[in-house]
Amino acid sequence: MSSEQEIPIKQKCLQWIKVGDKPFQFTDSALVTQPKDLEQNDVLIQVYSAGVNPIDGKMAVENIAHVKLPAVVGYDISGTIVGIGSSVKDFKIGDDVLGCLTFKRGGGFQQYCVTDESVLIKKSPGVSHEQAASLGVAYLSALDGLQHVRNQIQGKSVFVPGGSGGVGHFIVQICKILGASPLIASASKEEGIKLLKETYHCDHVINHAKEDVVAKIQEITVGQGAHIVFDSTYISSSFEKSIRSTANGGLKEACEWILQGKLKPYINQQPTIEELETAIEKLRKGQSGFGKVVAKIH
Ligand SMILES: NC(=O)c1ccc[n+]([C@@H]2O[C@H](COP(=O)([O-])OP(=O)(O)OC[C@H]3O[C@@H](n4cnc5c(N)ncnc54)[C@H](OP(=O)(O)O)[C@@H]3O)[C@@H](O)[C@H]2O)c1
Repeated sequence: MSSEQEIPIKQKCLQWIKVGDKPFQFTDSALVTQPKDLEQNDVLIQVYSAGVNPIDGKMAVENIAHVKLPAVVGYDISGTIVGIGSSVKDFKIGDDVLGCLTFKRGGGFQQYCVTDESVLIKKSPGVSHEQAASLGVAYLSALDGLQHVRNQIQGKSVFVPGGSGGVGHFIVQICKILGASPLIASASKEEGIKLLKETYHCDHVINHAKEDVVAKIQEITVGQGAHIVFDSTYISSSFEKSIRSTANGGLKEACEWILQGKLKPYINQQPTIEELETAIEKLRKGQSGFGKVVAKIH
């Protein structure tokens, strides 16, 4: 185990203190795990950005992963390695990394988090910490849902209901990259509709609150219906397995696409760690607008 910079003893953290109502409590004096105390495959990361997802609030209310409390939620992180365990092979102190933490350990919503090296990949300098932390759960969920039809998207009509959402805006972009035509999406908020039209260049954007979605799809596809429909407004069950099986390949490809200017995560809000509790609650209630919420942790 080694360390090049002095690690503080205490840190800012949004602690998950109980299951159910008002599950979180902000503190600026949570203990930081010191490099000498790391398990052999663990790394200590100074977190710069952490993605905010509906699962943060759901986990806190239901504890589906049976996590021992107090704990810290937050699963999509980007930061710099500041400590490594004795058996860590692929990373060194100073590496910029991104990753999707497991639901069992979590830990993104604090300034220093500990995780197993297997859930991380190195971050290219051309991908910002905000972009890197916007991927994780939402991007991998989009990718997971598309995996069975991925090779059939080129030239096919694809409809993405809720295409402006955290998951939806990644589905829309992946489908565009893979050649969907026509690419059709729906949303109801004005900013989301604008994002889909102007930033992601969807061929058709349906306002699901004002228009007859089915009739519109029939009209666009000349009565055939869309070849592929990916409804990203679904209620999630467990996708930890898919995260584990696709994390590295999926996120590496996403970073490549960001570097090539093909994939553009939309970061709608960047709450501070002090504002996180409110941000999680707003996301849980569907009041976050469109694109991704990525917290500024450091
Ligand atoms: N974010 C993640 O990491 C993640 C991962 C896996 C699963 N999930 C699950 O997937 C679902 C969506 O998550 P999200 O993060 O993408 O949520 P979100 O950011 O709130 O996006 C929801 C999307 O659904 C649209 N929408 C709302 N009501 C609709 C309706 N009646 N018909 C069609 N579209 C509608 C919204 O557009 P308007 O507001 O403009 O109508 C928005 O585009 C949630 O159940 C979540 O738990 C999320």
